[in-house]
Amino acid sequence: MGRLSIDRVSKVFDIDGRQVQALKEISLELEDGQFGALIGPSGCGKSTLLRMVADILPPTSGSISIDGAHPSQARKDHRIGFVFQDATLLPWRTVLENIRLPLEIVAERDPDREKLPRELIELVGLSGFEKAKPSQLSGGMQQRAAIARSLVLSPRVLLLDEPFGALDDITRSRMNLELLRIRAETKITALMVTHSIQEAVFMADRIFVLAARPGRIADVVEVGLDRPRSFAQMSDPAFTGAVDRVRQCLFDQQAMAAIDV
Ligand SMILES: Nc1ncnc2c1ncn2[C@@H]1O[C@H](COP(=O)(O)OP(=O)(O)OP(=O)(O)O)[C@@H](O)[C@H]1O
Ligand SMILES: [Mg+2]
Repeated sequence: MGRLSIDRVSKVFDIDGRQVQALKEISLELEDGQFGALIGPSGCGKSTLLRMVADILPPTSGSISIDGAHPSQARKDHRIGFVFQDATLLPWRTVLENIRLPLEIVAERDPDREKLPRELIELVGLSGFEKAKPSQLSGGMQQRAAIARSLVLSPRVLLLDEPFGALDDITRSRMNLELLRIRAETKITALMVTHSIQEAVFMADRIFVLAARPGRIADVVEVGLDRPRSFAQMSDPAFTGAVDRVRQCLFDQQAMAAIDV
């Protein structure tokens, strides 16, 4: 299971005595195993939304549930994995030790789980690099190690905040395919923030386009492309149509923001 439900969630921050509405009445649903993408202008609240799902921040109002459970319960049950923009690996630990870290933190002695770090290293294509330190890996390899680490407690929902933003285009495309393969093997539900329209369409079943000030959902685009996905689909009318629709929505917002000023 890995059903994510966000119901009329708002978030107001107090910035030096000033109330800033970061998000207003966000509602979205992802079914078990679906891939969702979040796209929108800088500052529209994408990271804030992921943090609330991960129980790092509480919403000001509204509710979030993961398989019917509150995020705090989902976190206790290790149902949520989180991949940040930077790999955030501990530099003094090897790849294997970094991937094992969540297991050490929860300190559960489950023999089945003990095998997982090595299986995940294979899944993310880092076999042979178990003993390497993060500084001895490329950016893409570091991000793969971070993805493996996020999966080590077998979460049902994976949150990714611009995971490939720091990578060059070719590495990023390869990582997109890798992530889709990992998703197909683990059947995990995923919600990924990206600034790339093409990436959102290539990866997702459903794209949530956000508008800013306050952050709100401007459009939901269903991507009707078969899986497994391949780059050949990029010339498919379903692909180009979804790209156009997301782009138009983002452009319309920019135009409106310009009129506001
Ligand atoms: N901890 C915080 N305290 C106060 N305000 C915050 C905090 N975190 C985020 N904000 C505010 O909430 C808004 C949304 O920020 P957020 O980081 O979620 O945007 P984002 O969509 O992820 O942007 P980007 O695309 O640049 O990463 C911004 O106005 C920001 O100033
Ligand atoms: Mg962000």
